Amino acid sequence: MEIIIQSTPEAASRLAARHIARQIREKPDSVLGLATGSTPRLLYQELIRLHREEGLNFSRVTTFNLDEYVGLPPEHPQSYHQYMHENFFRFVNIPISQIYLPDGMTEDVPEFCAAYEDRIQEAGGLDVQILGIGTDGHVGFNEPSSSLTSRTRIKTLTPQTLADNARFFEAEGEQPHHVITMGIGTIMEARRILLLAFGQQKAEAVAAAVEGPLTAMVPASILQMHSTAHVFLDEPAAGELTKADYYRWVLEQKPDWQL
Ligand code: PGA
Repeated sequence: MEIIIQSTPEAASRLAARHIARQIREKPDSVLGLATGSTPRLLYQELIRLHREEGLNFSRVTTFNLDEYVGLPPEHPQSYHQYMHENFFRFVNIPISQIYLPDGMTEDVPEFCAAYEDRIQEAGGLDVQILGIGTDGHVGFNEPSSSLTSRTRIKTLTPQTLADNARFFEAEGEQPHHVITMGIGTIMEARRILLLAFGQQKAEAVAAAVEGPLTAMVPASILQMHSTAHVFLDEPAAGELTKADYYRWVLEQKPDWQL
């Protein structure tokens, strides 16, 4: 795992965007796995800037989102369909036919999930997967105790995740308890993984994922088994890492082309 600690979320997001831009320039028909939540907003803003100001071309890119709430239609303001449209898709040139998100309104969840997996394979597999991390160590919505080889499926959110996200929902009872999420096995097949985490509230989960034992109780710890996983942190999110100075030192030694 490569641990990249930056002074601000903006700086960390710029570096993560650089990885994605390089990927798209090297392989214009790249397949991107996308995440939602508050964490990747700055990353999307930087990708939009690169599209507008530096001609980053998304016209051959295909995207698959990690997850969606069960029971929310795409037009619901808190659906991840809406989030992606508002934060990214409406500002870049990805053809709508190349955009995939789980369908939270599907009538046959298992069949939909199997088809989603097939679609990722047909597209050639994920080149890069963007991830956030939950305060409970989840990636996607793979909550603690998720099988480390799981595939796309329905999951029930933990009370901790429900509390973390309650602020986004106005009316009580509006917040879904179920999601469709790519599995940990699905995520681990991505050729490159970029995990972003910002803020002191993520420090404990980050330390458990990066330096703790590999365990289904901290699903993000599976990234220790991935050959090409980069973890982009701001200082507060790195606050509980015991080897933070070493990670900073490693970063200082890197040639520019590796960043
Ligand atoms: P957040 O969520 O970016 O809103 O903190 C991260 C996650 O739950 O994966």
